[in-house]
Amino acid sequence: MEIIDLSKGNSIINQYLAEIRDVNYQQNRLLFRNNITRVGEMMAYEISKTLEYETKDVTTPLGVSRVSVPADKIILATIFRAGLPFHNGFLNVFDHAGNAFVSAYREYTDNEHTEVGIHVEYLATPSIDGKTLIIADPMLATGGSMELGYKAFLTKGTPKRIHIACVIATPDGIDHIKKTLPDDKTTIWCAAVDPGMNEHKYIVPGFGDAGDLCYGSKL
Ligand code: PRP
Ligand code: URA
Repeated sequence: MEIIDLSKGNSIINQYLAEIRDVNYQQNRLLFRNNITRVGEMMAYEISKTLEYETKDVTTPLGVSRVSVPADKIILATIFRAGLPFHNGFLNVFDHAGNAFVSAYREYTDNEHTEVGIHVEYLATPSIDGKTLIIADPMLATGGSMELGYKAFLTKGTPKRIHIACVIATPDGIDHIKKTLPDDKTTIWCAAVDPGMNEHKYIVPGFGDAGDLCYGSKL
């Protein structure tokens, strides 16, 4: 399985990620969401280079131009709620894509808040059969939400290719995806790989709770 960490090369994504991580920038949710969206746009552009293309003739007012355009049918999938601004970035780039949504939230299962259970409650998706499935979720921590989200989407067909797109991944999350998704057709994309998680399963240094930073705290 290919793992593409975009922070290995210098690009403007590193500036967006620096702001996403910064506790002062985080005070402004609009800026925070906008930076997540911008990482989504850049990552979508990088993924676009890996698609299959076909030629097409386009009639301009002055003649005919032969252009090479993506042939793959793309489904953009995301996991509520933190995935929404990231999904929007992908949709800004792949504006012809189908869209799929699943809800998953983590809840501690012990009093010490060291173990998390994941709840999936909502699924809305077109068929993903034969499509290029891009699942965008900013955090790949334990990998549990991504696994359950992927399995929920799988009930609606078998994708041709799978791109797991996140802003920050952990080595544990990456290993989890390697064990649970098909090796020969999956690529993991991230803007950084952080060293690990704390005892509450938050990524360290990470940036905190993605959903709360986008939309405020929940009960
Ligand atoms: C965040 C994030 C992922 C999940 C990653 O969602 O958007 O879905 O955590 O963690 P995991 O890899 O350990 O499963 P969260 O559960 O905080 O829900 P929210 O989007 O509703 O805030
Ligand atoms: N989910 C988050 O929102 N943040 C983390 O650090 C881990 C999971």
